Amino acid sequence: MAEEDAAGATAADRLATELADQGHLADPLVREAMARVQRHRFLPEQVWIDDDRADGGYRPVDRRREPDLWWNSAYGNVAVVTQIEDGQPERLDPHWTTPTSSASLPSAVAQMATAAKLAPGLQVLEIGAATGYNLALISEIVGQDHAVGVEIDPALAADARAALEAAGYPKTTVVTGDGQQGYAPGAPYDRIVSTAAVISVPLPWVNQTRQGGMILTPFATTLCGQGMVQLRVDEGQAVGRFTLPLEFMLVRGQRQVPRFDALFTDDAWVASRAEPLAVEPAFLESRDALFALGLQLPGVHLGFKADGRWMSSEDSWAYIGPDHVFQWGPRDLFDEAVALYDLWQNQGAPSMLRYGLTVDAAGQHPWLDNPDNRIPVRTGSTPPPPATGTTSPPVASA
Ligand SMILES: C[S@@+](CC[C@H](N)C(=O)[O-])C[C@H]1O[C@@H](n2cnc3c(N)ncnc32)[C@H](O)[C@@H]1O
Repeated sequence: MAEEDAAGATAADRLATELADQGHLADPLVREAMARVQRHRFLPEQVWIDDDRADGGYRPVDRRREPDLWWNSAYGNVAVVTQIEDGQPERLDPHWTTPTSSASLPSAVAQMATAAKLAPGLQVLEIGAATGYNLALISEIVGQDHAVGVEIDPALAADARAALEAAGYPKTTVVTGDGQQGYAPGAPYDRIVSTAAVISVPLPWVNQTRQGGMILTPFATTLCGQGMVQLRVDEGQAVGRFTLPLEFMLVRGQRQVPRFDALFTDDAWVASRAEPLAVEPAFLESRDALFALGLQLPGVHLGFKADGRWMSSEDSWAYIGPDHVFQWGPRDLFDEAVALYDLWQNQGAPSMLRYGLTVDAAGQHPWLDNPDNRIPVRTGSTPPPPATGTTSPPVASA
């Protein structure tokens, strides 16, 4: 055990040095914490690693059978999957493995911890405690009494508590529950840091953050899985910009299943509106464009099928084939995407860094460049008004 401890200490120090060399550890407190916390102590004996050659993309790694691979995964800059299919093996699809918990990518953990501007004594709530590794890092910086984690999966929460205790953080709290509700008994928090992505920032997080405090969370839309938003809370609202293009798994409670298969019937195909394809759909592969479109088309999914792409919302779909587009339902989803893409190009093709979000009791409102410049969000079955070329609110002429 002493030997393993010494090896873990050396490996953690090396990982921190590597991440610092790559520019991910600008904050010395985060660097020291990463050098001190031994990541292998938070991993279960069986993990899954991303492997291009494996069916479904992931393959199991058992510590006893492949000790070197297990250890190197613990101390490499890799996300280590620690649970699949929500821990219910009967749900296992033979063709595709769905990771549902992990020890996140160390460089992403480092970047988030740096962005969170942690300091001794700050009260921090982490959503998605999973292995407890990130909570240990947070505890190192703010102090065990000030770090609280929420984990929805009771078995994972129990494992995180045990790992934290064994690693020397017995006072760090791990609560089993739905992190979308925050954890009111520990509020107010100086920081709420989520390590599971949200499509919609939960209002309890805003209400449980101290004035001037920060919410830092991975953010996704149904069109684009990448994003991170950093919000400052003041007077009942949270406002801030999108920052890093990181991708995390979605919080349970906000996963959405595309409706394309449910809506696409023979009758719908016959009734669909077919038109020759006037716009090359390749723009649907641009991450920056998809990020912008995703903010404005919540609930619209995109995928590939046969030799084309499809889009779907609650009540409409579009199939974009090689020569024709077929649209069905009250919305012309492809036309909406094309109009928004034109608008986005006219705005100078802004990257995600120019967008931001305001969250208040009325919901969440995306904006471009500044919080007063809210961008229209298209929901439901109402066809949108024609795009105007500007997102600024109309200004009354003098
Ligand atoms: C990427 S892992 C987080 C990694 C973790 N911070 C670590 O250091 O190991 C995401 C975790 O969020 C949890 N989760 C998903 N939905 C949740 C919810 N609604 N409330 C709390 N936890 C949730 C998952 O069970 C999973 O364990």
